[in-house]
Amino acid sequence: MTTADSAPTALRPHAEEAFAEELRALEAADDRPRPPRWRMSPWAVSCYLLGGTLPDGTVISPKYVGPRRVVEVAVSTLATDRALLLLGVPGTAKTWVSEHLAAAVSGDSTLLVQGTAGTAEEAVRYGWNYARLLTAGPSREALVPSPVMRAMSEGLTARVEELTRMPADVQDSLITILSEKTLPVPELGQEVQAVRGFNIVATANDRDRGVNELSSALRRRFNTVVLPLPATAEAEVEIVARRVAQLGRSLDLPPLPDGVAEIRRVVTVFRELRAGATEDGRTKLKSPSGTLSTAELISVVTGGLALAAHFGDGVLRADDVAAGVVGAVVRDQAADSVVWQEYLETVVREREGWKDFYRACREAAA
Ligand SMILES: Nc1ncnc2c1ncn2[C@@H]1O[C@H](COP(=O)(O)OP(=O)(O)O)[C@@H](O)[C@H]1O
Ligand SMILES: [Mg+2]
Repeated sequence: MTTADSAPTALRPHAEEAFAEELRALEAADDRPRPPRWRMSPWAVSCYLLGGTLPDGTVISPKYVGPRRVVEVAVSTLATDRALLLLGVPGTAKTWVSEHLAAAVSGDSTLLVQGTAGTAEEAVRYGWNYARLLTAGPSREALVPSPVMRAMSEGLTARVEELTRMPADVQDSLITILSEKTLPVPELGQEVQAVRGFNIVATANDRDRGVNELSSALRRRFNTVVLPLPATAEAEVEIVARRVAQLGRSLDLPPLPDGVAEIRRVVTVFRELRAGATEDGRTKLKSPSGTLSTAELISVVTGGLALAAHFGDGVLRADDVAAGVVGAVVRDQAADSVVWQEYLETVVREREGWKDFYRACREAAA
């Protein structure tokens, strides 16, 4: 535990801070050509994302667990004049990958525009400091650049989160930026030209389709890379265990000695309900309305770990995760609790070695 008088630390440091040592080691070991303004070569960026061991023995932890090719296409897109769109269902690490890409390519993951229904054009282009505007009139000093404008003038990576949630006209303000690589400022009779190294990583949710469809003019400016759900239960367990260990460290939770068995069980429940069938394929199941994403798995297990650490003996057990599992599955009380009860009684109850989990889930639902 941290002592009361130590300096406050950020609850969630940016990727470039949290992994500063790995990034430094990669930069030092990297002798391949770097695109203009890139902190390291495309090869080193993909090693940072996928993990590996450097010639001097430094271990680079994997950030993304998934197909190597997905990462390679994403990284090489950023070295071209096309922007990158990461597409996928919720919880497939779109935001996570975008942050790590920006950290490795530009050393700065903070040039971020969050897309919502209320995102205004100023967030993508520029705004004005009204006090300055009134005293000095329209001038460079009164202009407030957006993160995208800053990335353009400094040759860095800008991030646009949830692109398809932004109103269509705001999305379209990206078209000139991406095709002409310039941002006109008519009020000043000037423009900001993008310098080499500038690019954009956007993310969009598969399920948002139809909310604000990406215009075809804009879509053409992006290379789309789809991030898949974890292919196997083993891969998903690895993702969850790794991320929970990281989160646990930053929350000062004790390390997890025997937690992987319990993680494997929760992963099984999520995957079976998501797929609508048991792992052996013998029993068909109904799927609940929620997404049951890997991200939700991570928060269920982290919550369980906190319970085990503070109120149990530090070992993650069924009753530490049961309430979290039921909460994630039963989102819509009416429809989902039927689905859950059926799964509980036909699958969980009958499964060898799952008695404790069955009991814990029944208690959690009571
Ligand atoms: N394939 C994966 N590899 C590594 N981490 C993953 C993977 N899939 C999900 N995660 C984890 O899930 C969490 C949520 O991901 P996030 O980027 O917020 O999802 P999205 O933006 O796609 O909804 C992150 O903490 C990330 O570590
Ligand atoms: Mg996201």
